Amino acid sequence: MNFWDGRKVFLTGHTGFKGGWLLTWLLLNKAKVRGYSDGIPTQPSLFEALKLAQSCDHAEGDVRDLSKLKASLQSFEPEIVFHLAAQPLVRESYRDPITTFATNVMGTANVLESCRGLKSIKAIVIITTDKVYEIAEGTQTPAGFKESDTLGGHDPYSTSKACAELVSKSYRLSFFESLPVVTVRAGNIIGGGDWSSDRLIPDAVRAFSSNEPLSIRNPASVRPWQHVIDPIRGYIMTAEKAAQSGLKVHALNLGPPLKQCIPVKQVIETFIQKWGADAKWQLANEEAPPKETNILTLDSSLAASTLGWKTEIGVEDSLKLTADWYKAFYQGQTSTRLRELTETQIQNWGFAK
Ligand SMILES: NC(=O)c1ccc[n+]([C@@H]2O[C@H](COP(=O)([O-])OP(=O)(O)OC[C@H]3O[C@@H](n4cnc5c(N)ncnc54)[C@H](O)[C@@H]3O)[C@@H](O)[C@H]2O)c1
Repeated sequence: MNFWDGRKVFLTGHTGFKGGWLLTWLLLNKAKVRGYSDGIPTQPSLFEALKLAQSCDHAEGDVRDLSKLKASLQSFEPEIVFHLAAQPLVRESYRDPITTFATNVMGTANVLESCRGLKSIKAIVIITTDKVYEIAEGTQTPAGFKESDTLGGHDPYSTSKACAELVSKSYRLSFFESLPVVTVRAGNIIGGGDWSSDRLIPDAVRAFSSNEPLSIRNPASVRPWQHVIDPIRGYIMTAEKAAQSGLKVHALNLGPPLKQCIPVKQVIETFIQKWGADAKWQLANEEAPPKETNILTLDSSLAASTLGWKTEIGVEDSLKLTADWYKAFYQGQTSTRLRELTETQIQNWGFAK
């Protein structure tokens, strides 16, 4: 039995990068999805490249607008709710902290408030980030954060997501005694179809597709790289388990193993090999960006023991899948071909081996 076949899913942020991958996965498994987002965040976008609006119940609205969100969610009577809509960029959060807090904190409260009293709902999965943990100044945590570690955050984005965690906990304890509400934490996601600003791979494909070198500010920065299919599988497994047997944990880390924590320079040089042509990178001649946590690793053993989840796709394969996807896009493949390619990547890599 396919758990998702005919299942009603309410998905916020469906027009975004991760939302588009999750939507494609759900549609492939025959779920009935209503997506709720405030628009299409980038141009181009995965959502438009795959013509996803035609395959789901596409609702346009702001998560800060409680009455519109509530009407959309409650009239649909979903069984599963995934909340991904957010202002997801650290740099943008320094530029506009108020919108970041309003969207990420009150947006999460509004999603949970809209679920109150709705009998159809069996599980709520709230997507946060690996950046929700408190890091004392000047310290590093190579062994990885555990879910029970203190929440914190320095920049407005990280703090807003830590607040979203607290809001989720408060709603769970106050209003949803028997309904699973689970927060899931992952970060530094790569994959085809991301055109956000100020992210390494989107910046690279924008540069390479116009025959420009990529400028990199911090080639030595180490990050935990992970293909989007891995955390998406984690979100799916979390919802399934929560709906079927009422998962006993309330937060899960979905990070890659330590060997996937490698410097930006190594990632971009591998990506250049996969991309081919004359792709090049150079050191950026600009000021250091606003403070951002340097090294972050997660201990994902709880997801392994409760869900049987682990990262399946190594960095090399992640970069190959990503380069294959963008090359197909820039070679002008049709949306049907791009949809098939996305589905093939999910089918080949998305199901635990
Ligand atoms: N991509 C990553 O590396 C990464 C890492 C950690 C966590 N996350 C989290 O995953 C989620 C999705 O991120 P993404 O990379 O796909 O971002 P994205 O920018 O591609 O997508 C964001 C989505 O949220 C929607 N949205 C933004 N503001 C909204 C509002 N006020 N009302 C309604 N919809 C709104 C956008 O329309 C879009 O659909 C976010 O919660 C983000 O914080 C992403």
